[in-house]
Amino acid sequence: MQTEFINITDWPEDDEFSAAYPEGARPKRTLFSPLVPRESFIKPDWRHMFKRSAERYPEQFWAEVIAYEISLLLGVTAPPCYAAFDEEKQQSGALSAWFYEEGDESFYSAGNFFHKIVEGFDRERGTQHNIVDADEFNNRVLGKEQIYEFWSMMLFDVLIGNTDRHQDNWGHLLKAVPLSKSVAARKKELYDVKWKFAPWFDNGTSLGHELLKEKFTAWDDGALDRYISRGRHHLRYSRDNLTRMGHLDSLRFIRGHSGVRLLLLKKLRDFDLEALEMKLNHFVDLPAPPGGNLSRERAQFILRLTRRRAQLARETLNEHN
Ligand SMILES: Nc1ncnc2c1ncn2[C@@H]1O[C@H](COP(=O)(O)OP(=O)(O)OP(=O)(O)O)[C@@H](O)[C@H]1O
Ligand SMILES: [Mg+2]
Repeated sequence: MQTEFINITDWPEDDEFSAAYPEGARPKRTLFSPLVPRESFIKPDWRHMFKRSAERYPEQFWAEVIAYEISLLLGVTAPPCYAAFDEEKQQSGALSAWFYEEGDESFYSAGNFFHKIVEGFDRERGTQHNIVDADEFNNRVLGKEQIYEFWSMMLFDVLIGNTDRHQDNWGHLLKAVPLSKSVAARKKELYDVKWKFAPWFDNGTSLGHELLKEKFTAWDDGALDRYISRGRHHLRYSRDNLTRMGHLDSLRFIRGHSGVRLLLLKKLRDFDLEALEMKLNHFVDLPAPPGGNLSRERAQFILRLTRRRAQLARETLNEHN
């Protein structure tokens, strides 16, 4: 567990990546961890993404760090993410470990296959990014069991209230595996390509990060519920119904699949809110550089929001059709 902000001041910049990736929605850059990191949980000599908050929302980076903790509690794979600080530039942000090794695996974002299978796919906004095509493609490359992993992510997004799992915020990792000589001769190919889901990354557009303290501290339970019920995934229902799936409605949609329903209910039963509360308190108490602290009010709100979301998710999965 991190006991202080990770100081990235002396971490070497990753010039290659910074040149290839222009500035996105939020200021971010990639760097390499040192050969001998101070913290035992940091992977040595490894690419990391350092993402700062948008100016309007200074505490935003905490959403990504806390979402990672929630992924651990829910048993969903996300890239490790920590609170970090650049002393020289006086910047705080979320530091996440790269989830693959260049040359060993490749990341293929879902936008790439949507672009291929949906004619005229709107690559910019992903207006045709939908669950039916996603499911069909995932079945094809991963097999039918993928639905459990995919919907564990969907539940994760419901719990954190993620509204930004767009077509380039998830995807697959591809790895070329050499075939044995006999198989290679038969298939007339030297390699087989193995597919898996990439860890679910970019989880910071969530946990009410866009709400100002003055607003959420004044909310009664009704206001909280109205906020939760307005939450939507980026994914649409189908090519013929391009409305974004409501977070809670997505659970109504999937609960007819009894295997997935039981898995999600089990995940919710095991979801340890006390452990989350302890983590949040720990983050509030972490000595922070100027402007980098997580306020107690926000931590309490995130706990209240997540507790209520978990409860509503459970109720929705238990409703009778
Ligand atoms: N931990 C990581 N490992 C590997 N690739 C990553 C990682 N984090 C980000 N990336 C890559 O960098 C891109 C930009 O990162 P990210 O999506 O986190 O930033 P963003 O500014 O929030 O993006 P947007 O708001 O446009 O979705 C991702 O689409 C992904 O391709
Ligand atoms: Mg992104």
